[in-house]
Amino acid sequence: MAVLIPKSTDQQLSPLLYGPSSTPSGSILGRTLHSPTPLITAADAHTLTLSTTHTLLDSTSGAAVSCLGHSHPVVTSALISTLSTPAPVYVNSILFNTPIAEEAGSVILSEANAAATACGGAEDSFGRVYFCGSGSEACEAALKLGRQYFVEKEGAGTKRRRWISRWGSYHGTTLGALSVSGHYARRKVFEDILLPQGEGGNVSFVSACNAYRGKKEGETDWDYGQRLVRELDEEFQRVGPDSVIAFLAEPVVGAALGCVTAVEGYWKGCKEVCERYGALMVADEVMCGIGRTGGMFAFQAEGVVPDLVTVGKGLGGGYVPVAGVVVGQKVVGVLDKGTGAFAHGHTYQAHPLACTAIVAVQKVIRQENLLANVVTRGKQLEALLEEQLAGHKHVGNIRGRGLFWGIEFVKDKETKEPFPVSDGVSSKVCERALELGICLYPCAGSAGEGKGDHVLICPPYTITEGEIEKIVEVARRAVVDVLGE
Ligand SMILES: Cc1ncc(COP(=O)(O)O)c(C=O)c1O
Repeated sequence: MAVLIPKSTDQQLSPLLYGPSSTPSGSILGRTLHSPTPLITAADAHTLTLSTTHTLLDSTSGAAVSCLGHSHPVVTSALISTLSTPAPVYVNSILFNTPIAEEAGSVILSEANAAATACGGAEDSFGRVYFCGSGSEACEAALKLGRQYFVEKEGAGTKRRRWISRWGSYHGTTLGALSVSGHYARRKVFEDILLPQGEGGNVSFVSACNAYRGKKEGETDWDYGQRLVRELDEEFQRVGPDSVIAFLAEPVVGAALGCVTAVEGYWKGCKEVCERYGALMVADEVMCGIGRTGGMFAFQAEGVVPDLVTVGKGLGGGYVPVAGVVVGQKVVGVLDKGTGAFAHGHTYQAHPLACTAIVAVQKVIRQENLLANVVTRGKQLEALLEEQLAGHKHVGNIRGRGLFWGIEFVKDKETKEPFPVSDGVSSKVCERALELGICLYPCAGSAGEGKGDHVLICPPYTITEGEIEKIVEVARRAVVDVLGE
């Protein structure tokens, strides 16, 4: 992820964004220590208001989080009523459970099983849900759950100790989740203390499925996908198929690559490889799941049912910090017959307020038929981006699904050469977009080794036709203002 470019002290700050209180010397250890950060002081529905009174359309739902916008009355009143009635605000999960946690679990399980059935899986493909506080915690839990599954299934001497992940991916910031993240910039400082990749190590990486950059000239999408499936198979064979716990990947890659979807046949092929060698498949849907791409789960579009699915961001819509792991019945069954316990936990797991938000967000998504809006507005967004931005000389590629779209900028469209990192192109485009009244999510690394600029557009599921028009029109102006006509 890029942060807005650090400002030098003598640099002119936009008075629209930076007021006297946007000070760099505050108490928060945020993303930057030196640069001032625009202060948001109010928000309503899709609008953010800065301390300067400048307003922004929240066209990225924060970081693909606020899927219902801000202050949705159903969610806020559910949270207020939990706090103002004698309902528990916290219980110790070692001793207790709560009705709201059970309700949240069964709502998510039934959605996951409906998604599994829709792509040919069993009605009871998923058996339990583990709720935690962040996407990183969810991915960390999925890694440990995978390991415990094999310890219980094959015994303590199991050789299964390795995860196969992909370059151009992000699974979280904690050491385990970062170890399996193929994200150059976020790994860099910590590389020496991450889980080892070598012989007998715990992590391997295979190529991302990114047709824009990976497909060879003359190769079809199908052949490209099958080449990558063979690469995965070869990696299993190279490291010893009986040493692999799981293959994990994002069905639609979020910030690491900019809403990159897989080519047809790729996920099915990868699932076959996992099954051939008895390994698990983990779909990281922290960013792309819970309706963001048009289905409740992104794996639906790939026609495969993963063994573990991590969710976050849209799960609580930003009203509370919450994430989770939807656990396949296969894994639940082994634990059930074994120790009967997951050897992992957090003080705040299945927090009642977080579970209240999950139930309320799901209720709104259903009652307002929002997945249909994601599909319709997503098609409009795609068409307008193609029409207004695809022809720009520095727009290399536009990709995505539902309300999850990425624009990759290149210096040279023919060669796909990225801009130098020091140009900070995605940051500059985003800062200009903020001045013009919309949000873009600035990211870097789409061309490998930290190079390559892309921005995300991922508005709330409640976005309107007129707002989509505004987002694209303003995004185009921001691109033109920074990179020329
Ligand atoms: C796919 C994916 N997995 C995991 C994470 C980590 O989530 P969090 O930042 O909530 O810890 C993210 C965050 O952006 C993500 O996009």
